[in-house]
Amino acid sequence: MGQQRLLLILILCYFVQIALGGETSSFMRSQWPSTDIPLDNEAFVVPDGHNAPQQVHITQGDYDGKAVIISWVTTAEPGNNEVLYGTEKNIYNLKAQGDVRNYTFFNYKSGYIHHCLVSDLEYNTKYYYKIGQSDSAREFWFQTPPEIDPDASYKFGIIGDLGQTYNSLSTLQHYMQSGGQTVLFVGDLSYADKYAHNDGIRWDTWSRLVEPSVAYQPWIWSAGNHEIEYRPDLGEVSTFKPYLHRHATPYMASKSSSPLWYAVRRASAHIIVLSSYSPFVKYTPQWIWLKNELKKVDREKTPWLIVLMHAPMYNSNDAHYMEGESMRAAFEHWFVKYKVDIIFAGHVHAYERSYRISNINYNITSGNRYPVPDKSAPVYVTVGDGGNQEGLASRFLDPQPEYSAFREASYGHSTLELKNRTHAFYQWNRNDDGKHVPTDFVVFQNQYWGSNTRRRRLKKNHHSWSQSLFASFEDMLV
Ligand SMILES: [Fe+2]
Repeated sequence: MGQQRLLLILILCYFVQIALGGETSSFMRSQWPSTDIPLDNEAFVVPDGHNAPQQVHITQGDYDGKAVIISWVTTAEPGNNEVLYGTEKNIYNLKAQGDVRNYTFFNYKSGYIHHCLVSDLEYNTKYYYKIGQSDSAREFWFQTPPEIDPDASYKFGIIGDLGQTYNSLSTLQHYMQSGGQTVLFVGDLSYADKYAHNDGIRWDTWSRLVEPSVAYQPWIWSAGNHEIEYRPDLGEVSTFKPYLHRHATPYMASKSSSPLWYAVRRASAHIIVLSSYSPFVKYTPQWIWLKNELKKVDREKTPWLIVLMHAPMYNSNDAHYMEGESMRAAFEHWFVKYKVDIIFAGHVHAYERSYRISNINYNITSGNRYPVPDKSAPVYVTVGDGGNQEGLASRFLDPQPEYSAFREASYGHSTLELKNRTHAFYQWNRNDDGKHVPTDFVVFQNQYWGSNTRRRRLKKNHHSWSQSLFASFEDMLV
């Protein structure tokens, strides 16, 4: 019944959208001030007990979703690095050993940061885990994804540029009501670099703020400009230093040479994480890695090809206009060639979704300067509206370019619900609307399985509710 209602809403809203064409929302938001939550606020509460683990977060730990990396911080002493875990509550019959590290940044000294790989997990299974010692130990749980399968359904959340204001908290709370199972995070996490000497205390508070979600489900990390933290004036010249110490990624599983770019497969999705602020021009390690990774994508196993980056390649906002242009010049032809489904970015503190367009015919001597409709191209989504202290980017370029389908400067998050190999429900949720009403929504038709011949072949052998449901709505898909 719930699914039918959602579908009805989607269909109604779709026709409204058709009538409007490309849309710049006139919605006037109510909002909290764009100031960070005070340090003594309960959103940043430190857990009770001597040396209790805090800032607990998990991410995928391998290529295919049978491992997690569990991370936490202890402050008084290193303590042990063990994770106890099992499939029954309070029965921890398995054990994994991690490592511990710390770092300094100017006059800030981090706590003891633990990372522990827990591998050889069963798919589709709830695991309970326990970290810390004696009375200060803490317990959490997570659910592993379904086995890699073209029709595995799965719901991702997409959050970007989150920061630690009351708007950030609102975004997080709305996301936590969405039913999302894993977050695709598109960069700019804590905004600690906005403070004097890039005060690492604001990294600690941010990690406590997001713990209620990320201790229980993986967030797939990508880095933004606020993670660079290059401060030669403070003697800090090692880029991404706090971010990399705090956030492990399974980069070696995809044969990447850097934690800043990597890929994971989860359920029916192949997710590629790129670094907007690492070299990516021809012959650089990121360029070579991406070239090889795209060849490895098997749409028969993982139909949904999703790319994350921080700086958007298509953005019609005055803020950060054209900053993604160099990566567009380097990679767009591959994204079209490999029929990427969706590219999620952040950076611009507003929401925008494009139509399927490309500009791959442009070169420095041709006159083909304009993006054109291209069925093989990705949809570009900017979700840099998590709610950080810099506020919203409310100056859109006027008129709205033809490639821009919907844009609005409000805080929110997106969800992408992969239904099967052919269809996915996507929606953007403005915080002010609560959890039930999507502000922007699209039914995505898979770029590989959505082709006519493959769909016909599929229908013969694989008749499911969604195909019959959507048979009469072929035109509403992107
Ligand atoms: Fe940014």
